[in-house]
Amino acid sequence: MIETVATTAYDDQKPGTSGLRKKVPVFRQPNYVENFIQSIFDTIGDCAGKTLVIGGDGRYYNREVVDIAIRMAVAAGFGRLIVGAGGILSTPAASNIIRRHGAIGGIVLSASHNPGGPTEDFGIKFNTANGGPAPEKVTEAIFARTQTIERYMISRQAGVDVDQIGSTRLDQTQVEIIDPVADYAALMETLFDFGRIAELFGSGFRMAFDAMHAVTGPYAKEILEKRLGAPAGTVRNFKPLPDFGGHHPDPNLVHARALYEEMMGEGAPDFGAASDGDGDRNLIIGRGIFVTPSDSLAVLAANAHLAPGYSGGLKGIARSMPTSAAADRVADKLGIGIYETPTGWKFFGNLLDAGMATICGEESAGTGSDHVREKDGLWAVLLWLNILAARGQSAREIVEAHWREYGRNYYSRHDYEGLDAEAANGLMEALRAELGSLPGRAIAGLEVAAADDFAYHDPVDGSVARNQGIRILFEGGSRIVLRLSGTGTSGATLRVYLERYEAAPDRLALDTQAALADLIAAAEAVAGIRARTGRDAPTVIT
Ligand code: G1P
Ligand code: ZN
Repeated sequence: MIETVATTAYDDQKPGTSGLRKKVPVFRQPNYVENFIQSIFDTIGDCAGKTLVIGGDGRYYNREVVDIAIRMAVAAGFGRLIVGAGGILSTPAASNIIRRHGAIGGIVLSASHNPGGPTEDFGIKFNTANGGPAPEKVTEAIFARTQTIERYMISRQAGVDVDQIGSTRLDQTQVEIIDPVADYAALMETLFDFGRIAELFGSGFRMAFDAMHAVTGPYAKEILEKRLGAPAGTVRNFKPLPDFGGHHPDPNLVHARALYEEMMGEGAPDFGAASDGDGDRNLIIGRGIFVTPSDSLAVLAANAHLAPGYSGGLKGIARSMPTSAAADRVADKLGIGIYETPTGWKFFGNLLDAGMATICGEESAGTGSDHVREKDGLWAVLLWLNILAARGQSAREIVEAHWREYGRNYYSRHDYEGLDAEAANGLMEALRAELGSLPGRAIAGLEVAAADDFAYHDPVDGSVARNQGIRILFEGGSRIVLRLSGTGTSGATLRVYLERYEAAPDRLALDTQAALADLIAAAEAVAGIRARTGRDAPTVIT
């Protein structure tokens, strides 16, 4: 039985950097979830006979929304639903399934690395037929629809048991509950030399993978321990929990501190890694060395040809604007294109679809390739393992050799979280107003070469995205970028990105914060962060 339910619009269903993200109590308001999902279906248009993928990162409220999404998709007339067992699909696995099964798109439930629980974060993301996050023109259409919606449709028939792998017919819809891991693991086997990585583990190589009680646990167990033969216990915190064990499932130096300390200490394993709530981010720590995501992108790009899936070379590299220029040097050397996009994976989709880029990355611990249309945490870890196995060197040796060859881009991000939104907007507005007068001025002893508010002209579809972050470029190639987060669910987060390039062989092993000290001072001088926000230190330094 399909019921048409009258509803009234909410005015705050505007998707941000990565889908609609709010606190659970916001999603629990009457018809809030239903309005948004119906708006997605109304934007797709005719859903009859089409295939839709549904799954999420297993966080609190995931099961309830999976059930609602299935019922509404049946009511919308989809021909086939592919749902991860237990309502589970990592973000990259969902992207792969959409592509592999010719789906029109997928509903991916996740708030990524944000905490989960009854008063924590939840999110709904729509991915399109290429497997990637919906581009802005689609998210804008969905948002427009949420503002006028007056009804939604839902099936009141008995639902399906999402824990039971198998296929059930509900009205005209075939609902398939699938193993969330199988397709993804098979894809990884086509990209990487599993035999060689297994030999590495066979030779006594020790690894620590922290799944942070998030969605990657089952994927990492299957691939690292079962297929590659890593010793049991290699994958830690592998059981996905609705509240991620009370932690932030964010693989950075703050929330994965224990792993970091272990990797820097006596008797550390050879290689450490972690991934986030929905499995698209990665953290890479070699014994005695944290690899910044920007450096990781550069090292992976420079060595990707060592993995079978990339042995033919790369078509190009894309990075988000705030990501360091380390990858640019690799692209130059390889003689391939380098693209600088706004923050957010959705901007890579066109470049990947057009065959202009093979590998993409963001400083926020996101790396991926054209194998799917999302960043992919475990993929990055497996590519690292493939490179370690092929080169027979440690992560530290590889990174240090990279710096000797290309120079080092010292890089750090300072986040100020939970700011008063008005104060944060005021800071950005004041900076914008000053941009024209900055070039030529000296700030904290550094001379400004150029300053702008980054605008991206998509070379594939010609679309333009403006106001994507303020860049202050100094003589000599150092820079500061400031932007406000588009993924937060309360207050505002100011991100300050700092970068300096060093090529002198005796200056490659400095302490990062010390190497960036003058840029940190310049950011304070130009933006007045202390005075405007009342904070005298960042909340998180990565
Ligand atoms: C953050 C990251 C960005 C990433 C996004 C989704 O967005 O900075 O690189 O694509 O999360 O994982 P932000 O909060 O900065 O808008
Ligand atoms: Zn994520």
